[in-house]
Amino acid sequence: MDKIKITGGVPLRGTIQISGAKNAALPLMAASLLTEDTLALSNMPYLADIVTMANLLAQHGVALNMQGDGKKTGRILSLCAADVNNLTAPYELVRTMRASVLVLGPLLARFGAGKVSLPGGCAIGTRPIDLHLKALEQMGAHIELRDGYIHAEVAGRLRGANIQFEKISVGATENILMAASLAEGVTTIGNAAREPEVCDLAHCLQMMGAKIEGIGTDTITVTGVERLHGGNYAVIANRIETGTFAAAAAITGGDVELIGARIELMQAVVEKFAEAGVAISETPRGLRVRCVDGPIHGIDIMTQAYPGFPTDMQAQMMALLSVAQGASMITETIFENRYMHVPELTRMGAKINVHGASAMVRGAPELRGAEVMATDLRASVSLVIAALAAQGETIIHRVYHLDRGYERLEEKLSGCGALIERITARAPLTLATSEAA
Ligand code: UD1
Repeated sequence: MDKIKITGGVPLRGTIQISGAKNAALPLMAASLLTEDTLALSNMPYLADIVTMANLLAQHGVALNMQGDGKKTGRILSLCAADVNNLTAPYELVRTMRASVLVLGPLLARFGAGKVSLPGGCAIGTRPIDLHLKALEQMGAHIELRDGYIHAEVAGRLRGANIQFEKISVGATENILMAASLAEGVTTIGNAAREPEVCDLAHCLQMMGAKIEGIGTDTITVTGVERLHGGNYAVIANRIETGTFAAAAAITGGDVELIGARIELMQAVVEKFAEAGVAISETPRGLRVRCVDGPIHGIDIMTQAYPGFPTDMQAQMMALLSVAQGASMITETIFENRYMHVPELTRMGAKINVHGASAMVRGAPELRGAEVMATDLRASVSLVIAALAAQGETIIHRVYHLDRGYERLEEKLSGCGALIERITARAPLTLATSEAA
């Protein structure tokens, strides 16, 4: 397995190109199942999770074509679901990526049936999908859980319903938005997620002919249509990647311009950076990040659904605050068990105590390089951030977690002066055997 080696202490200076958002791209790819026409998605990031979704759609019968290579941003992915011949999303693919469940709403809406493996447990908590299933049942689907699979079918078309989510869920809102777009009648989604990625999906569906009102509010109304068409759509900028590089710039006392980043997608994050003494300002090309107020100050953060502070930025902010002056209190309200980076940061000299859903971070004068283990996507990038500021060398193991969500991470950071390199694993040794004579 690949490792990443980082020698800390170099202030980041320069520019970094922000990619299209993974969490917007995945549901947009699933939306291609809603039409027999071609959907062309531009500004596509090139990541392990995107490849997984591409493989999933391909085995359903979707024809995919990527223009541009893996080295450049702004690629275009064309998807055409004219010849869907398989309505099953198999365990091998769904288990590696929960977002695979986003094919269920589109399959049911367009083909009247779908069989999707249950995603199962996940490193950052149990993450059930009950909200998705209950809402689809309200729309007339018959759902059974058998042999580890969700078996869903509907006689005729899905029907519009009045859905009131008891909890805000990004994935459930997206699944129902897609299902409702082709349903018969009007669907109201109450307590809907308002994340920019949900809005991006809704805007793409509108471009495809869907009738959607209330985008960006907690009540979305969808009037179903009989048919959606294809078209071209550009994926929004990745606000989490933007925040991650902002934390990396700040922890090294650097000055970095994030090209293509958009401030309006991340007000809560920008406010917390400002409170900690990190200025994020708009430039004609994106955002500029620099420390303006001496050392980083300790601050309190609570993760919340959008427009609150995103859970996907919690680990990165914790790494930054581990070298702040003073103490910080971080409270995670979205996922249980999302502090797996804490023992690893502690190995690097961070002073963090977890009490239930809250973590007390006491700023340490310095971090020291160590061998650490990546456990999930955001946890692993928090180790990269800590390593950029640490004295000496850090080796991060299990970097495949990073490859799920960060495109060309080493290249983007080393372009700003970071001493970072990937150590590619050699093929395992095999014993030479000789055939018996
Ligand atoms: C999405 C993001 C993920 C982000 C998360 C929260 C994608 C591909 N992933 O994940 O990066 O961390 O939003 O912003 O976009 N829940 C239920 N029942 C359900 C569904 C969710 O109880 O049926 C709970 C979850 O366990 C969690 C909370 O609701 O506690 C929010 O989860 P949700 O918003 O659904 O996250 P995802 O869509 O999986």
